[in-house]
Amino acid sequence: MEDIVLFEGDGIGPEITKEVIRILDCAGLKFNYHPYLIGQRAYEKYGVLIPDEAIEAIKKYKVALKAPVTTPIGKGFRSVNVGLRLALDLYINLRPSRSYPNTLARYNDVDLVIFRENTEDLYTGKEYEIDGGFEAIKTITEKASRRIIEAAFSYAIKHNRLHVTCVHKANIMKKTDGLFLNLFNEISKNYPTVSIDDKIIDNMCMQMVMNPSQFDIIVTPNLYGDILSDLAAGLTGGLGLVPGANIGTDAAIFEAVHGSAPDIAGKNIANPIALLLSSCLMLDHLGYINEAKKIRTAVYNTLNDGTILTKDLGGTASTTEIADKIISYL
Ligand code: NAI
Repeated sequence: MEDIVLFEGDGIGPEITKEVIRILDCAGLKFNYHPYLIGQRAYEKYGVLIPDEAIEAIKKYKVALKAPVTTPIGKGFRSVNVGLRLALDLYINLRPSRSYPNTLARYNDVDLVIFRENTEDLYTGKEYEIDGGFEAIKTITEKASRRIIEAAFSYAIKHNRLHVTCVHKANIMKKTDGLFLNLFNEISKNYPTVSIDDKIIDNMCMQMVMNPSQFDIIVTPNLYGDILSDLAAGLTGGLGLVPGANIGTDAAIFEAVHGSAPDIAGKNIANPIALLLSSCLMLDHLGYINEAKKIRTAVYNTLNDGTILTKDLGGTASTTEIADKIISYL
């Protein structure tokens, strides 16, 4: 039996986690879960957002399923998610976005995967006071850029995807984004069967909104990837559907793109699908390919049926009801 570290998180976290575990159980996947507290509830109990024992557990068991957590704002806390990614060197942030039927999707033919560099750029927390304000340091290194670009091309080959787009702002940030773009062009030569192009982030945003189905795989530094993945989520039916994975050499954390949604927490109306699809990425990672496919098909059938949808998808169903519907298709 697989050992999996489980973070139920804050806000809607516990409600959606409960349903995801129930669905995995119904799919015949009985894992050995090791629950730990991180985020707001860990802070209230232990006075820290990420207890050391949680990091040690991920190092030991290698895989974690994580519901969203709340990071208190404006008290000098580093984001829990950024903290975990840096502590475990989870350098790949994988965010697939695709259109489903009967959602509020703007487009019905999107199927793209974003590879967001996860450890540097403007997210290292290096902000300093300067005369008249503050400055933030943007870090782009060859090592971090190389490994995310390699990961994007390897994924393209493995999943038979034909095109990779590099997103950057190298026309302005000539050294940092220039390095990223040069490495992309260099590395692409090792993958002659995959076609490439590159786009400046502002043009990319317009292209994404006008014609997102032209994109296949996107690789980009941290900040652009963060923004583009929410943009892609908005175009394909909202945050309630988009899964994510943070993958390093020695450990991986699977989590939805959305946050802890305090505005709807405790009401049993949150959409559990994003976390469920994140668990499917975890199943892929662990080698349970057929089971992941079965769950994805049940999700597709539930959305295609369209009678049981949560509020974010334009329906009135509860978290439990949509989970029941998915289970009925398993
Ligand atoms: P959010 O993603 O929690 O919510 C944005 C909007 O989307 C809200 O209207 C919310 O109700 C809705 N929404 C989100 N997930 C949903 C779901 N599964 N079903 C239905 N509706 C859903 O973003 P927000 O409000 O900016 O952040 C709230 C908290 O979450 C903050 O403390 C933030 O730091 C944290 N956060 C945590 C993340 C994580 O743990 N991975 C990621 C993003 C934010």
